[in-house]
Amino acid sequence: MNQSPILIIGKNGKTGSRVNQRLQTLGHTTRGVSRSTDPAFDWERPETWRAAMQGTQAAYLSYQPDLAVPHAQADITNFVEIAREVGLQHIVLLSGRGEEGAQRAEEIVINSGLTWNIVRANWFFQNFSEGFMLEGIEAGELILPAGDTLEPFVDADDIADVAVAALTQPALRNRLFELSGPRAMTFSQCMRELSQALGREVRYTRIPVDDFIAALAEQGLPEEMQWLMRELFTVVLDGRNSRPAHGVEEALGRPATDFKHYIEKTIESGIWTQDRLKASA
Ligand SMILES: NC(=O)c1ccc[n+]([C@@H]2O[C@H](COP(=O)([O-])OP(=O)(O)OC[C@H]3O[C@@H](n4cnc5c(N)ncnc54)[C@H](OP(=O)(O)O)[C@@H]3O)[C@@H](O)[C@H]2O)c1
Repeated sequence: MNQSPILIIGKNGKTGSRVNQRLQTLGHTTRGVSRSTDPAFDWERPETWRAAMQGTQAAYLSYQPDLAVPHAQADITNFVEIAREVGLQHIVLLSGRGEEGAQRAEEIVINSGLTWNIVRANWFFQNFSEGFMLEGIEAGELILPAGDTLEPFVDADDIADVAVAALTQPALRNRLFELSGPRAMTFSQCMRELSQALGREVRYTRIPVDDFIAALAEQGLPEEMQWLMRELFTVVLDGRNSRPAHGVEEALGRPATDFKHYIEKTIESGIWTQDRLKASA
């Protein structure tokens, strides 16, 4: 068995942390990296990449901030070149459904000469509990520029399960898995189900996208991130990804996790309740 570590780019992220934990539980050696690790890996500082990648056999690659940004293709091209040079053999790329930029990055990995998997995901459930929507949920009102578009949100636990299968099972190599949850839902439907389970109301309020971006600008969000948020809410969320995908079943032979189960386990974790506030006090 090849004992050199499996590289996790984005170790502290929603998916990277889960991939790392699962691989370690299975007995694999990992090297989880991000800006705050030693060695560090920073997408904005290519000079950090080679040392972080040296000596690893395979990589789980989650890009920051998003493969939709214009410079992502150049970064992925550069990453793949270094991967070949340091003898890395297999790349599992986390990608987004319905993003043209992401699909150009996928092509670079697919044509890299290395073995590959693409894990192309819908919006994550965990945006509600570990991402930028958490604050609104804690405050009792989620304010976003999304209308009635149906989105089959996916569980980051499912993404991690598929990524780990892709990293460890040679029979799955060189395949693209499109991942979603089993149900396409609107944001207001999500908040209704969440409110019911939490026993307190979390309202969903839709605002015009220009107002949303203006508020983000006022909070000091960099221009690239403002562009990205507009892209995500106007292009990626225009209904192109509404049809559920079947990658979880294809890779794992089991159904994808439903929103209901995600809510149950997240309530149990204490993230949306006083438990979290107490724990961080
Ligand atoms: N959220 C969704 O709904 C969704 C859907 C489809 C696809 N995606 C894709 O998922 C990817 C993100 O994966 P994720 O959600 O698992 O990660 P994540 O939770 O966004 O990852 C956050 C971590 O990334 C690290 N990070 C931030 N900037 C970095 C940089 N410049 N270089 C290196 N590390 C950096 C940070 O750790 P440090 O502070 O330690 O650096 C942070 O803890 C993106 O490419 C996104 O497009 C997301």
